[in-house]
Amino acid sequence: MSAWIEGRVAGTRRWTESLCSIGVEAPSLSFAAGQFARLALPAPPGAKEPMIARPYSFVNPPHAAPHEFYFIILPEGPLSPRLAALDTGASVWLAPRASGLFGIAETAQSDSLWCVSTGTGIGPFLSILRSGDPWTKFGRVVLVHSVRYAEELTYRDEIARIAGAHPGAFDYVPMVSREAHPDALAGRIPAAIEDGRLEGRVGLALTPENAHAMLCGNPAMVDDVQAVLGARGMRRHRRREPGHITLETYW
Ligand SMILES: Cc1cc2nc3c(=O)[nH]c(=O)nc-3n(C[C@H](O)[C@H](O)[C@H](O)COP(=O)(O)OP(=O)(O)OC[C@H]3O[C@@H](n4cnc5c(N)ncnc54)[C@H](O)[C@@H]3O)c2cc1C
Ligand SMILES: NC(=O)c1ccc[n+]([C@@H]2O[C@H](COP(=O)([O-])OP(=O)(O)OC[C@H]3O[C@@H](n4cnc5c(N)ncnc54)[C@H](OP(=O)(O)O)[C@@H]3O)[C@@H](O)[C@H]2O)c1
Repeated sequence: MSAWIEGRVAGTRRWTESLCSIGVEAPSLSFAAGQFARLALPAPPGAKEPMIARPYSFVNPPHAAPHEFYFIILPEGPLSPRLAALDTGASVWLAPRASGLFGIAETAQSDSLWCVSTGTGIGPFLSILRSGDPWTKFGRVVLVHSVRYAEELTYRDEIARIAGAHPGAFDYVPMVSREAHPDALAGRIPAAIEDGRLEGRVGLALTPENAHAMLCGNPAMVDDVQAVLGARGMRRHRRREPGHITLETYW
């Protein structure tokens, strides 16, 4: 099997100066909701490797085309600014297989599922929540999206459609840390768990008896939320040792 398959850019969407989504036609690439692709572009002349590649979570649900990826543009980053600048129809390369174990198959049975994200870490949850996977396993699903500024609360139409498809079973909790926003909880996720604001907002307990938590995004958030949940007796879920927390870190 060759190292890369060639995909075509189906379009890009610029949400803010630094947030972008890209659609990629690559019909031979299949995946399970929650997994990531490796996207690549040819490296500049003189580089050690022929391609610059980075992992990106699928945002589209499986079987929906084109594939979609949601990413932050890091001005000094080798790949993200180049991806954001691609025109419709341009070539982009993908590893021939999707990867990752972040998905509903790797969660423990529980009453409720908490999908906890910062920034672009909301991506895999948009795929998971638009697949059938969580809705037969969990009675209630909560999506927490924590961002610095309100304009970064993206994908609101898609989230509204998820809510409409699952009345009474789904709650969305936006959080904004660096400005006041009427619809959002203030501050960071660990504090909102510790002081009860997050559970109060949805009327659900986040405890080992009731909940499984999936965490995705900033590694410091993942560490800090694990510490807060650990104090409640929630621990990492592993195939051989069932627990309550599944995680994916982006850097
Ligand atoms: C399993 C996995 C899945 C990922 N999925 C996504 C995704 O869906 N969307 C996405 O934007 N990124 C995702 N990333 C990160 C992505 O692979 C790149 O690192 C990122 O796009 C920056 O690439 P770059 O080459 O421009 O800079 P890099 O040299 O790769 O990164 C430079 C620095 O930017 C910071 N950074 C990296 N990614 C992010 C981020 N997402 N948000 C905030 N700061 C970041 C880190 O401090 C990093 O050291 C994922 C990473 C992993 C490990
Ligand atoms: N967002 C932008 O406009 C922008 C533009 C260009 C480059 N960047 C770069 O992108 C990276 C940041 O990406 P991002 O904006 O997605 O932000 P991020 O730093 O991951 O922040 C997203 C959310 O996570 C919170 N958070 C950070 N650390 C946490 C922790 N330990 N526990 C719990 N919550 C935590 C943040 O709160 P706090 O606000 O309290 O930190 C914020 O609400 C940085 O390298 C930045 O320099 C960002």
